[in-house]
Amino acid sequence: MSPSGEPEVGSDGPRQKGKATPDTLKVGCIAHVTKDGQPRRAEILSIKETKSGRQFYCNFDNFNKRLDEWVPVSRIDFEQDVEWPNSEKDKQKDAKNKKSTVVSKKSQPSKKTQKKVGKREQSVASEGQTPHPWTEFVESQNKADGEDRANASLEVGATPGVGPDEMELDEDETPASAAKKEHTQSFSREQEIEKLRTSGSMTQNPAEISRIRNISQVEFGRYVLFPWYFSPYPEVFGREDSIYICEFCLSYYGDLKSFSRHRQKCTLQHPPGNEIYRDDFVSFYEIDGRRQRTWCRNLCLLSKMFLDHKTLYYDVDPFLFYVMTTRDEKGSHLIGYFSKEKESADAYNVACILTLPQYQRKGYGRLLIQFSYELSKIEGKLGSPEKPLSDLGLLSYRQYWSENILDLLLVYSEGQEKCTIETIATRLAMTTQDVEHTLQALKMQVYHKGEHKIVIPEKLVQQREKSKAKQKRVIDPERIQWKPPVFTAASRTWGW
Ligand code: ACO
Ligand code: ZN
Repeated sequence: MSPSGEPEVGSDGPRQKGKATPDTLKVGCIAHVTKDGQPRRAEILSIKETKSGRQFYCNFDNFNKRLDEWVPVSRIDFEQDVEWPNSEKDKQKDAKNKKSTVVSKKSQPSKKTQKKVGKREQSVASEGQTPHPWTEFVESQNKADGEDRANASLEVGATPGVGPDEMELDEDETPASAAKKEHTQSFSREQEIEKLRTSGSMTQNPAEISRIRNISQVEFGRYVLFPWYFSPYPEVFGREDSIYICEFCLSYYGDLKSFSRHRQKCTLQHPPGNEIYRDDFVSFYEIDGRRQRTWCRNLCLLSKMFLDHKTLYYDVDPFLFYVMTTRDEKGSHLIGYFSKEKESADAYNVACILTLPQYQRKGYGRLLIQFSYELSKIEGKLGSPEKPLSDLGLLSYRQYWSENILDLLLVYSEGQEKCTIETIATRLAMTTQDVEHTLQALKMQVYHKGEHKIVIPEKLVQQREKSKAKQKRVIDPERIQWKPPVFTAASRTWGW
């Protein structure tokens, strides 16, 4: 794993090196490719012929997948050796990874096979058990004060989760049996995408179709969006220069003519649910995945273009969707949303969260996160977002947690009352684990005379004052019109 958290390209072992030409460079090779004026190692994921010549789809070392791009020959340095793919090894690994989609608690894989499980498979199999997102950050601190923690006077029971769930891997699989399976499992690209859309699992994807962004451009209301990741829209949509999505009902169209016809007929002007919050700035709607299956599936397809690691597209029944909009004379326009399980065994209060790219970095993510915690407060529960978090998700949550804990502590510091981790957790509806990790990351926990104490460094107070001056909007909890919905077991899932 690279420092940025992205898998390193070519991390599958040593590779043979040699010179390549534009004709011999093939999928799986690692070449030196210019990005932002710098030469970077990049894995070639696909090759296509265009009117202007051959193009190579590159995944750059240390860069998030959303920065993958098609590059012309001129950006590849053929003076340098390329690293050839380990073909035989790859096939075996591929076969194993395919098998690894079977999640089972029955058998323990050997350490060797555990290592070989790809990152995406891990993240699916380990949902709910991934170490805390701040674990890496604070690991060294934990090590340093491991013994102190044992004596801590503040009761904190939570420890970061263990590794990924066990997976059943077929150790005996030979290349021949893998090839046979490959044959029986071979799908057309079209079938494969249909299967992805209707199963919602990225791991059932022998052709690794999902590694390559399929939609290049989306017209959405008055915005043009440039997707970051693959989303399983029907195969034909991938061949269009631009697709069209109705910003209200979220139906998708491959051509302008049918889209225009739809727009004339479409009467929806806001998300199809109850408006549970309204202020001068935004509204929130609550939508039941079971009652509004098509709309919610369409929302998931849309959001998959900007979310890399979540698998939900089709089985939306067990989820509620909290959708934030902004109003004008034309209607309520989608800004972002979060989904939430009707009943979460892991006490998650958010499954997926997204601000559409045209609204990002304007403070809407904070509003979405705040709203999710306000709902938890009403429920009287402590909540946390589903893991793993994306890079942007982690940045946003860290910011939210830090700001809110600091604000609360500043209020407490003025009074006499003692503030413990439990008090913070209850007041903010955050898990004690998230509170403790945040305090550690901000170096706000000190060990003094056999006791853990919370301190507020002066620098943080000053920083917070500055950022508060910039921060314009917050959710007004008084305006939330919501009672925790009650579901029967049948209404949480599929109707059959
Ligand atoms: N670079 C650096 N910091 C960032 C960035 C960024 N690109 N984006 C957010 N942050 C941090 C900043 O600290 C920011 O505060 P600041 O602007 O005052 O510095 C803070 O997060 C909040 O930013 P917002 O503007 O409120 O957040 P935004 O509306 O951009 O939404 C979100 C954040 C939802 C994560 C958005 O980036 C997004 O939709 N990303 C794609 C989907 C995704 O990754 N979702 C999270 C997946 S994890 C999960 O679903 C549980
Ligand atoms: Zn419509």
